[in-house]
Amino acid sequence: MKKIGILTSGGDAPGMNAAIRAVVRKAIFHEMEVYGIYNGYQGLMEGNIKQLGIGSVGDIIQRGGTILYSARSEAFKTEAGQEKAIEQLNKFGIEGLIVIGGDGSFQGAVKLTEKGYPCIGVPGTIDNDITGTDFTIGFDTALNTIIDAIDKIRDTATSHERTYVIEVMGRDAGDLALWAGLADGAESILIPEKPHDFDMVIDRLQKGQQRGKKHSIIVLAEGVGNGMDLGNRIQEATDMETRVTVLGHIQRGGRPTGFDRVLASRLGAKAVDLLLDGKAGRMVGIENNKLIDHDIKHILTSKHELDMDMVHLANQLSI
Ligand code: F6P
Repeated sequence: MKKIGILTSGGDAPGMNAAIRAVVRKAIFHEMEVYGIYNGYQGLMEGNIKQLGIGSVGDIIQRGGTILYSARSEAFKTEAGQEKAIEQLNKFGIEGLIVIGGDGSFQGAVKLTEKGYPCIGVPGTIDNDITGTDFTIGFDTALNTIIDAIDKIRDTATSHERTYVIEVMGRDAGDLALWAGLADGAESILIPEKPHDFDMVIDRLQKGQQRGKKHSIIVLAEGVGNGMDLGNRIQEATDMETRVTVLGHIQRGGRPTGFDRVLASRLGAKAVDLLLDGKAGRMVGIENNKLIDHDIKHILTSKHELDMDMVHLANQLSI
């Protein structure tokens, strides 16, 4: 294989640039040409494609977002959209494609692989909701952004003796909420994977107040519901002054952590190795600090499991 393409798709995640850099440099090291496809699958259909040299990925390892931009394309999901994409791949002589993104992006990679274009998926999403890898690129940075925000909120919460509901991203997964709640000693962590008992949430808050606690933090995963609703219910059920902070897209930006930069570099380089080995329809991942790869189709049909031991631990530590 002499010419490969790379695109980022779906929600951006800090560390995607480090992965792009790794793909480009590793491929050039192996004397391949690399083509950057801009704006995800939408850009692929439109032929928004440029060759990337060594220098084009200089000074990006520390930057959040994605220099290739990203999009969620409805048109690419159609047969006609996929045909257009293949026309462009042929036009540029691209023989294999590396797709950095989440499960929506991988569905596109499966389609192209089935049509004869070998694709390799690199898991990049802050949600950490992809099975077959312990971590996705961007999760650690988003986690640290949340921790930083909660630490700041804690200061003002203490000064005013308030209860705070912090709503965090994660789509249908509770990883960000669980890890942030554990790292920040939240009173309660509400995640989609485990039904919560509202009375228990209130009971914990009241017990804390009786022990003289000056503030309380509840971390709510967006997949459970709306932070405002929960805040109102808490305010109504208790005499506690309650505030709600929805962290929103701030969680998707910022300089990637060292962990994400290293993870992205390793996964990006591994994806190039797989294409060189003639593999197709695989996703690279990391398990127990070892790089592995799985059939993407299998990844898309298996459910990401949250670490329930961590859920129990968080419960025990927040008594
Ligand atoms: O998948 C990443 C993510 O940030 C989710 O956590 C969130 O639910 C969603 O994307 C938000 O999407 P958008 O940027 O399209 O509003």
